[in-house]
Amino acid sequence: MPRLRAASLYRVSFRLNGRAVAGQAEPRMLLSDFIRHVLGLTGTHVGCEHGVCGACTVQIDGVPARSCLALAVQAEGADIRTVEGLAPAPDRLSLLQNAFRENYGLQCGFCTPGILMSLDALLRDRPDATEPEIREFLSGHLCRCTGYGSIVKAAMDAARKLRAERERA
Ligand code: FES
Ligand code: FES
Repeated sequence: MPRLRAASLYRVSFRLNGRAVAGQAEPRMLLSDFIRHVLGLTGTHVGCEHGVCGACTVQIDGVPARSCLALAVQAEGADIRTVEGLAPAPDRLSLLQNAFRENYGLQCGFCTPGILMSLDALLRDRPDATEPEIREFLSGHLCRCTGYGSIVKAAMDAARKLRAERERA
C-alpha cells in the first residue's frame, strides 16, 4: 500500500496592504485561504471557490483578481491589497466605502469586500466611468441579496465625489 507523504511547506512573502508579511503554505494552498487562515485577514470572503462569484476579489499589483483562482505561492513578491487596506485610518472610511454606507450599497455584506476592491481599482483609473461601464465592470460579481441597484448608485456617487475631489486638488 502506498504511503502518504506530508506535502512540503513553502515560505511565501509579499506586501499586504503596505506591510511585509510572510507565512508557510503547501503548494496547493489558495491565495484566499492563505490570506484568511494563515495571515488572519478575514475581510476577503470566499463563496464559490471557482472564480464565479467575485467575493474573494483582491488587488494584485493594482489589478483586481480572484484570490480563489491563485495559489499562495504565486503571490511571492507581489503587492496585494485587500478590503482591510481601503480605509485611510481605523476610524475613517474611504470615499468609496462611505458612498456604499450612504447609498445602502450593501445588505448582508458578503459580496461587498470583493465589489469594493474591483470598484476601487476601476475608479482610481476611470473616475469618469459611465453607469453602463460600471454595470459591465460589476458583472463579474454576484450579490445574493440582489442589491445591484443600490450598489451601482453607490458606485456612481463615489465616482462623482472622486471627480469633485480631483478637481479641487
Ligand atoms: S470565491 Fe473566488 S470567485 Fe467566488
Ligand atoms: S449584500 Fe448580501 S450578497 Fe451582496
